[in-house]
Amino acid sequence: MNHIPLSRRLLAGVGAVALIAATAPAATSASGGAAPAADSRGASDQAHDKIVTARIDADRIMGHIETLTVDIGPRVASSPEEDAAASYIADELESLGYDVEVQEFPYVNTVGYLHVGGPDGTALLVRAGGGSALTDGDGITAPVVDAGFGSPADFPAATAGAIALVQRGGNTFADIVGNAAEAGAVGVAIQNDDWRIFSATVADSPIPFVTMNDEQGELLRAAADDGATLRMNRYQTSQNVIATKAPTLPGRGARDEVVIFSAHYDSVPASPGASDNASGVAVMLELARINAQLPTATEIRFAAVGAEEVGLRGSRHYAQNLPAAERDRIIANFNMDMVGTASPEQNTLFMNTLNGTGVDDPADNLVSRAGRQAAERLGYGDIVRSPYHRGASDHQAFHEIGVPAVNFIWRDPVTAALEPTYHQPLDTIDRVSPDRLRTAAEIIAAASYRVIRHRVPGRPADGG
Ligand code: BES
Ligand code: ZN
Repeated sequence: MNHIPLSRRLLAGVGAVALIAATAPAATSASGGAAPAADSRGASDQAHDKIVTARIDADRIMGHIETLTVDIGPRVASSPEEDAAASYIADELESLGYDVEVQEFPYVNTVGYLHVGGPDGTALLVRAGGGSALTDGDGITAPVVDAGFGSPADFPAATAGAIALVQRGGNTFADIVGNAAEAGAVGVAIQNDDWRIFSATVADSPIPFVTMNDEQGELLRAAADDGATLRMNRYQTSQNVIATKAPTLPGRGARDEVVIFSAHYDSVPASPGASDNASGVAVMLELARINAQLPTATEIRFAAVGAEEVGLRGSRHYAQNLPAAERDRIIANFNMDMVGTASPEQNTLFMNTLNGTGVDDPADNLVSRAGRQAAERLGYGDIVRSPYHRGASDHQAFHEIGVPAVNFIWRDPVTAALEPTYHQPLDTIDRVSPDRLRTAAEIIAAASYRVIRHRVPGRPADGG
C-alpha cells in the first residue's frame, strides 16, 4: 500500500481545532413560541426523518468500506496505512465542502512489530503484550529459538540473547515470560494454536513480549535461522481529522451549539477492521454528505479519530484539548463503532452510554433518548437497546468532558457479545451487511438531525 502523504494544513502541536466565530443571531422560536400540537408535531418529526433517511445510499457506504479495508487494509495506529486512511477521509470531507483540519498528536504506542527473517523479510504487526517492556525505536534484532511451551526445560542453550517462540497452552503467560527472561531471552513471541490473535497481560514484564496467531507463529518459526527484529514503541504519532460546518439557521439562545459525530478509523494488527471500524467511518461520511446540503441550526463536526485501539488516544487528545468555552458548546456526541456486522446474532443496535452506575442501572442522556425515539418513529423500536452501560469506544472521551455521548453498535441482544470475528483477520468486508449499515445510518441520521434542527428531546421544540 502506498503511503499517501498528508498535504493539508496541520494543527499546531496539541492545540485544538480552530473555530468559526459564532455569528448566528440569538433566536427564540421560529414558530412564535407555541409548541405545535402533539399529532402535527409527530407528523412533522416523521417528515424531518424522511429528509435524511431517504438520502442514505448504502452503496456509497460500502464503497468507503472497500477503500478502507481492501485498498488500504489493516490501519494500525500510526502505521502508513492509518495515515493513508486519514488522507482519504480528509479528502472526502473536503470535497463535501467542509472546513477540514488534521490534528496530529503524540503518544506512546505499544503495538508490537515483528520483522521475520531479518530486515528484508516479512513484517508482522502483532499484538503487544499488556504490561510488556518497550524497546527503543530500532527494536531488538535477535535470532529466534523454539522454546516449546515455555517450561524451564524447554529453553535451549541458545536462548541467551534470542527471541523465544513459545506455544500458548502449557504455562501461564507470567511463567512463560518469567522463564524466558530467566533463560536470557531478550523477547518472547507467544503463538496461539488457532487462527485467533489473542491478548495477554503480564504485570511488569521484564522483557518485551507479543502474541500472535498460529499462522504468524509458523512464519516466525520458518524464519528462525535468519533472525528477527522485534519492536515495541515503534510509532508515536497519529492524527484526528476534524470537519466543521457552521450553522446555516439561527441557533437557540446566545451561543452556537455543536453536535459532534465521531468514529475511529484505525484497526488492530492483522485485521482489516471492516466492522471495527471502517463501518463507523463509512456511515459517518454518509451522514456528512447528507448534512452538508441541509439547513442546520447547530454547528456540526465530524471527527475521524486515530489510535482508538491503543487506548482511545485520538478522541481523548481531541476532547481534553478543547478550550472550556468550546467544550461547553458541544451538546451531543454520536459515536459510531461497529455499525455494520452481518453476523446473525448481533441483530440489536445498542446505544452504549456511561451515564448511570452500571449495566443494571444505565441512565439516559440526550443522545440515547434521541436515538431511541428515532428508532421508534422509524419502526425499529424492537431492534434497539437504549441506554446500555458501556464505554470502550470514543464516546467515553466525550463523556469524560461532560458531553452527552452514545456509541452505536450491533450486539447480541441476549449476551451483548460482539461478532466472533471482532479484532480478527476475518473482520472483512464480506462480513458486513449493507442492510445493517442502512438501518444504523437511518436511526443515527434521524436522531441527530432532530438535534441539529433543535428539536431536542426533552426540551420544547423551537422551530425548524
Ligand atoms: N469497537 C471496539 C469494541 C467496543 C466498542 C467494545 C464499544 C465495546 C463497546 C473498540 O474499538 C475496542 O476494541 N475497544 C477496546 C478498548 C479500547 C479502550 C482499546 C476493547 O473493548 O477492548
Ligand atoms: Zn472499534
